[in-house]
This record gives sequence, structure tokens and C-alpha cells, in this order.
Amino acid sequence: MTSKTIESLLAHNRAWADRRVAEDPQFFRRLSALQAPKFLWIGCSDSRVPANEITGTAPGEIFVHRNVANLVVHTDINLLSVLEYAVTQLKVEHVIVCGHYGCGGVLAAMRRTSFGVLNKWLRNIKDVYRLHEPALAQCEDEAARARLLVELNVREQVLNLAKTSILQKAWKYEHRPVLHGWVYGLEDGLLKPLIDMQPGHDLHPLYRYEDL
Ligand code: CO
Repeated sequence: MTSKTIESLLAHNRAWADRRVAEDPQFFRRLSALQAPKFLWIGCSDSRVPANEITGTAPGEIFVHRNVANLVVHTDINLLSVLEYAVTQLKVEHVIVCGHYGCGGVLAAMRRTSFGVLNKWLRNIKDVYRLHEPALAQCEDEAARARLLVELNVREQVLNLAKTSILQKAWKYEHRPVLHGWVYGLEDGLLKPLIDMQPGHDLHPLYRYEDL
């Protein structure tokens, strides 16, 4: 990997903007007036999983939220603000939770090392582990267990989305968005769909609000 300088990032940006305008003179004018993405991406902060690049989406096509290990935590005002805005205002058709194999957050959650404030965040993944301990115990080694936990974590975060009143309201009144859980492979660059959840999905009754 080449080591880039901070100046080179700005130089690249100028060349990129020039190229865009050469291809399409109205590109930035059009985008600055309106954003109407159909997709919300909730992914890991990992630098190797860039949402736009791996999905072939251009600026304006995908609304992005990223955090360590792509978690949907119900006390996270940042995530909830992004979700509310994307679902209620932008009216996205799809919400994608994308995890990735080799996720440092997931691996850290499997260990007993203390990471300070990060412990509170990773505890959510430890809870996913505890919830699915029987399945994880059947894995033949640590690597297989880590891969399974990455997948189980994605499924759990999709479920966490469905538990929100934001999603349930949109499902009830506008029959959208569809939820998707994907895993990205750092080794092959491929996205693997794990789960799709359609509007009106049959949630456990305790999580289903009846007075929306
Ligand atoms: Co990660």
C-alpha cells in the first residue's frame, strides 16, 4: 500500500472534481440541489469496507452511517437520527446492515481484554454471543466462531432495526423499507446476503407496538 500524504488527498480531490465536471457539467449543481437516495447503509467504520465503492453507487445514491461493528443500539442518538431522517424524510426503500468477516470489533468482543470506553459498545456484541452460545459452541475453531458471530451480529442488528417504532411506523403506513443483512468478505471483495426482512415482518409480539 502506498503511503499517501494529507496534501495528496486534496490534490486528488481537485482532479476528481474536474473529471466529474468534464464528464457531466451539471453533476455538482444537480446534486447540491437535491439528494434522493433509495438506500440507507449501516456499516462498519473499517476503512476496508467503503459503502460506495463496493456497491458501485455514486454520490447521491446511498445514505451512509458507519460505526464500530455496524451496531444498531437503541440509545445511540446518532444512529437513531440517521435512521429517522432516512426513513421518514428521505423515504429510503431499503436499509442495509453490512458486517464483514475479520471485523476487529467482533474479534475484540470475543476476548476478555479491556478496551476502556469501547467496552460499553462491544458489550452489545458479547450479548449477541451469549444469546447464540449453543450454535457458536459447535464451531470447530476460533476462526469459524468469529465468522459465525459476524453473521449472527448482522442478523441481530437487522432485528434491532425492526424493533424501532421508526421502522414499524413506516412499515404500517407506507409499506417500506425492506431490511437487508449482508456480510462483506475482505478476502474476496464479495457481498453475501444473509437475511431480508419485508415490511410487516412477524416480530415477537413484545416488540410490536400496537398504537403507532
Ligand atoms: Co469491522
